[in-house]
Amino acid sequence: MLRLVLLGFLFCDVKGALFYDSYHGVPITIEDVKRHDKTNTTFWCVTEIEPCDPLEGRRVDGSCNNLKNPPRGASHTPFTRILPAIYDKDFEPKKTLSGNEMPLARLLRTRLISVGKVPSQRYTQLAIHAFVFLSGDVVSLHDTVNYILWRPYCCMEKGKSDPYCVPNKIPEDDPVHRFSGIRCLNMTRPESFQSIGCIPKGTTPERIISSTPLIDLSVVYGNYIKNLQEKGRLFKGGLLKFEVDNGRIWPPSSKTTANVCFLNQRPHETRCHDMPEDGGNTLGSINLMAVWFWRNHNFIATELAKVNPCWNDEKLFATARDINIAVFIQMNYYELLPVFLGYENLVKDGVIVPNGGFRDIYNEKVLPQVSLEYPFALRWLHTVQEGSLKMYDKDGHYLKQFPIVNLTLRTGFFGVDNNMDYITQGSFRQGSANIDYIADPDMTEQGLGPHQRVSDLMTNDMAKNRYFGFQPYVKYREVCFGKPVRSFGDLRGIIDPERIEVLREMYERVEDMDLLAGIWTERPIRGGFVPPTFYCLVIDQLRRNIIADRHWYERPNRPNAFNALQLAEIRKITIARILCDVGDTVTKIQPRAFLKAGINNKIDSCNKIPQIDYRAWKDVSCERPLYWNQYKPI
Ligand SMILES: *[C@@H]1O[C@H](CO)[C@@H](O)[C@H](O)[C@H]1NC(C)=O
Ligand SMILES: *[C@@H]1O[C@H](CO)[C@@H](O)[C@H](O)[C@H]1NC(C)=O
Ligand SMILES: *[C@@H]1O[C@H](CO)[C@@H](O)[C@H](O)[C@H]1NC(C)=O
Repeated sequence: MLRLVLLGFLFCDVKGALFYDSYHGVPITIEDVKRHDKTNTTFWCVTEIEPCDPLEGRRVDGSCNNLKNPPRGASHTPFTRILPAIYDKDFEPKKTLSGNEMPLARLLRTRLISVGKVPSQRYTQLAIHAFVFLSGDVVSLHDTVNYILWRPYCCMEKGKSDPYCVPNKIPEDDPVHRFSGIRCLNMTRPESFQSIGCIPKGTTPERIISSTPLIDLSVVYGNYIKNLQEKGRLFKGGLLKFEVDNGRIWPPSSKTTANVCFLNQRPHETRCHDMPEDGGNTLGSINLMAVWFWRNHNFIATELAKVNPCWNDEKLFATARDINIAVFIQMNYYELLPVFLGYENLVKDGVIVPNGGFRDIYNEKVLPQVSLEYPFALRWLHTVQEGSLKMYDKDGHYLKQFPIVNLTLRTGFFGVDNNMDYITQGSFRQGSANIDYIADPDMTEQGLGPHQRVSDLMTNDMAKNRYFGFQPYVKYREVCFGKPVRSFGDLRGIIDPERIEVLREMYERVEDMDLLAGIWTERPIRGGFVPPTFYCLVIDQLRRNIIADRHWYERPNRPNAFNALQLAEIRKITIARILCDVGDTVTKIQPRAFLKAGINNKIDSCNKIPQIDYRAWKDVSCERPLYWNQYKPI
């Protein structure tokens, strides 16, 4: 079987793989590719794909989504922007209107965000896991790896002569570090098509990342078909490879200790996912969700095989993947996002449809891209991230807690001491941190856990705001809501008066305010719980996802589209159902598990949670007499 697949590959390669420039999206010649090979930039700057087949389903590498622009949708597709970039000379962060330096990122962080622990009475930790996983689908972590591993010297003398080092200064009178004496936080410039060497320096830095821009469960299926074939597929029953350990099902684990799970406490902790991409081993939240959606694929494939015993591995795999991605998007759009952004708001703004059924707003002219503002805005969620993962047994008794920041690149922890069970139970029992301007101390001092001595994720967010070259807050405010803000006084009604006073003290003029400073301080949107500018930047992308994705699950006209009955089944999915199906020891849960359990959301048996009826996928051809199948031409 494997040999067959390999042969298939070679054949296609010879027959007509096409090469494109990953930044410009235009075809290039073999000579161009050889030049990139010489400078070792082929991986980043060249997109190699096979010719498109308009009837083919969603490709793992995202290519051929847009038939007029085949490489768009693949990894290394450039971002789009809601507003054009603005920089000082040489693409350094811009100065204030009057030409002075902007206030230090760390100073703004300590003045605008307080530190403490206030539990939410509304959201569960599970909601945050899901949000982090959703952003994990379209970002990558090499900008962090850069200053931890590749340039570990940014706060040292050597860092001063490396133009990629842009560490953050901690002021002398910092509320925490006046006592520690630490004056510097590591950071590097975001990697760009320019820094990697795909396009000449001297033009506006264009961020480069390694995930596909589409919502397609990149963390589970990876971004390259080759990786999926080698590390993902079992080539039996449509399943992904798996291991059973102590009755629990896991993605396969790396068989060497030379893996990315640097913080595994060996010899006790050894597990490290060997998945098509390493994303599943990174943040604790992504790790959990990746395991669940990995299992969910196999759960779906197994159900499909029961309904359609005549389906082969390929058909089962493709259908299970298509359903798994659909279920993932359905859960995000119809369950997760409404509890934060407001159901009515999302209906009004065309992000979700209230009455079920199909919708088709695909527009070939809109490329599959992510706006740079979208993953950036999601960083606001750092204020809602609770630092301690609380663990419970299956009957809801509290057992212990553990800092989530210590679980980055430490998959081994999940694999021992029943931790996976207890963390799963905790995810829907524990509250997240409250939505407010109070951040968990682990987010502001220990964000990378043992990987750094000190790490303030939110200072980092503010500094990145500037290196991404975002226009000032007031410009975004105007694009989103039309009404110009010309003075601090105009912020009344948008931001609480005491916070306007702090902003006035920090910034010379309202036009100097960083985008993130506005998002951090705005009052929540009507009908929802998030800052209005966050809402605006996020729904712009949520809509683009629908318009620009030819394989969007709600479309009746995509290749292998769901029929009405199947789509209606997909729409029954909830995170509660997913945990009932694949979560360790979950036999009871509240129906709306992103929200805390309570009078109208009681923890109850999984039997009461609606489930997908896979008979909607019944293939009548399986019912023909056996000899029909046996003689079917291949
Ligand atoms: C070439 O690039 C790849 C991927 O970026 C990297 O892993 C490898 O170490 C590089 N090789 C050399 C010789 O620089
Ligand atoms: C988490 O990591 C920090 C270092 O960043 C360490 O001091 C602390 O002891 C760790 N906590 C646990 C419970 O392992
Ligand atoms: C900066 O990074 C280096 C290398 O990872 C580390 O030794 C140092 O402690 C870091 N600085 C801080 C303040 O965390």
